[in-house]
Amino acid sequence: MLILGIETSCDETAAAVVADGRTVLSSVVATQFELHAQYGGVVPEIAARRHLENILPVIQGALDQAKITLSDLDGLAVTQRPGLIGALIIGMAAAKALSYTLGKPLAGVHHLQAHIMAAFLTDSPPEFPFVALVVSGGHTNLYRVAGATEMTLLGRSRDDAAGEAFDKVAKLMDLGYPGGVRIEALAQDGNPAAYNLPRPRVHGEPLTFSFSGLKTAVAQRLKQHPEILADAAARCDLAAGFQAAVVDSLTSRAWLSLTQEGCSRLVVCGGVAANNRLRRALQEHALSAGLELFLPPPALCTDNAAMVAALGYRLLMAGQRLDLTGDVFSRG
Ligand code: KG4
Ligand code: ZN
Repeated sequence: MLILGIETSCDETAAAVVADGRTVLSSVVATQFELHAQYGGVVPEIAARRHLENILPVIQGALDQAKITLSDLDGLAVTQRPGLIGALIIGMAAAKALSYTLGKPLAGVHHLQAHIMAAFLTDSPPEFPFVALVVSGGHTNLYRVAGATEMTLLGRSRDDAAGEAFDKVAKLMDLGYPGGVRIEALAQDGNPAAYNLPRPRVHGEPLTFSFSGLKTAVAQRLKQHPEILADAAARCDLAAGFQAAVVDSLTSRAWLSLTQEGCSRLVVCGGVAANNRLRRALQEHALSAGLELFLPPPALCTDNAAMVAALGYRLLMAGQRLDLTGDVFSRG
């Protein structure tokens, strides 16, 4: 069963063809970061306009890469929520138009659930149930996952998302946008112990994340010591210290949630899961503790449409179709 996935929830226009929810035949991602870089973050109206320009060539690119035509498709899947409304509308309009004219079923997909489904696009997918840590630009959520859409929230961030913290700290350090990859590059040459940065906890809520205190600590450090920005080694140390604090916060709660749920399978996904320091920390602990870790490759962690097609396949198999009145929603 061939599904065309379409993703336009933020600043990536993406389309992919996936067979049986498992095999990626093509995955095309048109990033817009150079367009938003001068503003230091995503400008929703500009994102929507660029999606409109990109959507048809990106879909055509995905079909070409998969060496199929529209008539070979068995169904379509599109991100329906959460995301920027103007951006979501472009993908939805394209998906509905194709679904209607081809007479093929359409599935409306939840973006965070789709991130989790990226784990099924690898050679060794997890068995249900498992715990999933979704770390993206807008969310830091821990779920118990009993089925493709049966997810119970175990913990979330009470303030900034992990990716948002990376982006904000990058901005404070004049690294530009997107922040995550730039901090990671700088941190490679830094000493994570050079700066003692906090790992904020929420009293009585061990699975709740909090990143705004960490961001504030970096901001205060830079205010007190503006010379850090002019010192190449100090910049690397600060980036490494910040990254280590985020990694500690994420991993400690992930392990705790596994203990709490009596589960030994962990999926980690979303844009921040592309971070190599986080990946290494997870792999090392999982190995020593005998846990099963499922980490999709970086290209399937950041926004893409293959994950949308993977979840869409399961929804369509379960008879969950979206009709032409289906809307988009900014919230999850
Ligand atoms: O999942 P994603 O691509 O889009 C959303 O759904 O938000 O996640 C984007 C987030 C951004 O905040 C970005 O800075 C972060 O993921 N990110 C990273 C890395 N690559 C992307 N953060 C840390 N290290 C990375 N290598
Ligand atoms: Zn995402």
